[in-house]
Amino acid sequence: MTDLFSPITAGPFDLPHRVVMAPMTRNRAEEGNAPHSLNAKYYKQRSDAALIITEATQVCPEGMGYPGTPGIHSDAQIDGWRAVTDAVHETGGRIILQLWHVGRISHPDLQPGGTEPVAPSAIQPAGEAMTLSGMKPFVTPRALETAELPALVETYRTAAKNADMAGFDGVEVHGANGYLLDQFTRDSTNKRDDVYGGSVENRCRLPLEITDAVVDVWGADRVGYRISPFQPYNDISDSDPEATFCYLTTELAKRNLVYLHMVEMGGNEETGDFLSGRNKLFAKLRDLWPNTLITNGGYDRAKADAVIGGGLADMVSFGAPYLANPDLAERLHSGAAYNEPDRATFYGGSAKGYTDYPFLGD
Ligand code: PHB
Repeated sequence: MTDLFSPITAGPFDLPHRVVMAPMTRNRAEEGNAPHSLNAKYYKQRSDAALIITEATQVCPEGMGYPGTPGIHSDAQIDGWRAVTDAVHETGGRIILQLWHVGRISHPDLQPGGTEPVAPSAIQPAGEAMTLSGMKPFVTPRALETAELPALVETYRTAAKNADMAGFDGVEVHGANGYLLDQFTRDSTNKRDDVYGGSVENRCRLPLEITDAVVDVWGADRVGYRISPFQPYNDISDSDPEATFCYLTTELAKRNLVYLHMVEMGGNEETGDFLSGRNKLFAKLRDLWPNTLITNGGYDRAKADAVIGGGLADMVSFGAPYLANPDLAERLHSGAAYNEPDRATFYGGSAKGYTDYPFLGD
């Protein structure tokens, strides 16, 4: 029976098990939003993951939506990430960079020149942005002009090249959680009347053009894509998630990407849990996806074995448990107890709650 500890080959990666470190925002980049030695230590500590997927990393200054998140658009950031990838590789790990643009989930305080954030359409999200001077209501974003979109695709292409220079093993296109590409994909946030809005084909156009540019740089077998079809986070929804995500998944499958990374959040409540197969859309997307499917959402060992054993997913990514347990794969394997994550140190700060969680045997 295949389980969480069955080896797996995903594209060029021969992996000893199926435990993935999920991308997690930690807001601990330094001057110029560049990673530094503490970030290298944090990722190196977690290199027993089959794959580490980094925290979301902005592809350009306009793509930033929170203080202290790292970028991949400057020389200092490339150098900082190089130290991270070297550290992970020293211990035999593999690390994928998540390419991010927040779109409207930002604030003029975080934008170059203090201008409005950009989005597919000028629709203000409900909620508040995290700025350097506290939480502030989101503003109405500026709708991107059609003529600006080719340059945005090139921005992702450049970021993908930078990720290669920084020594990553691959990249994940962040298409989830209400950020820019999800804002284009789903119809509550995309009211455009050009070829990038309206039909599902049009709404998926920019995400797919960006994916194609990233694949040009890396080859499809080192590019993954993250979706969150059920996720309401960041004030987003879709009137027909099945049509939207079946189309997107089919198109991504044609491109033969190495993996699809699914965020389950929001799906259990509305449409039945994933393990039982009662979530019909999850099962459909599985059927449409021929390559590795990584799923995410509150898993423990037993649930991970069940979802993999049942063929619904091939790998499972863990967020908070990885944050608090640098040797999570070993603990999942041996059944050892977990360190509890401390929410107060999730976002920002220094080594406390970041690199000081004990290993087994400490
Ligand atoms: C966050 O910083 O809150 C965040 C970032 C990226 C995600 C989800 C949440 O995909």
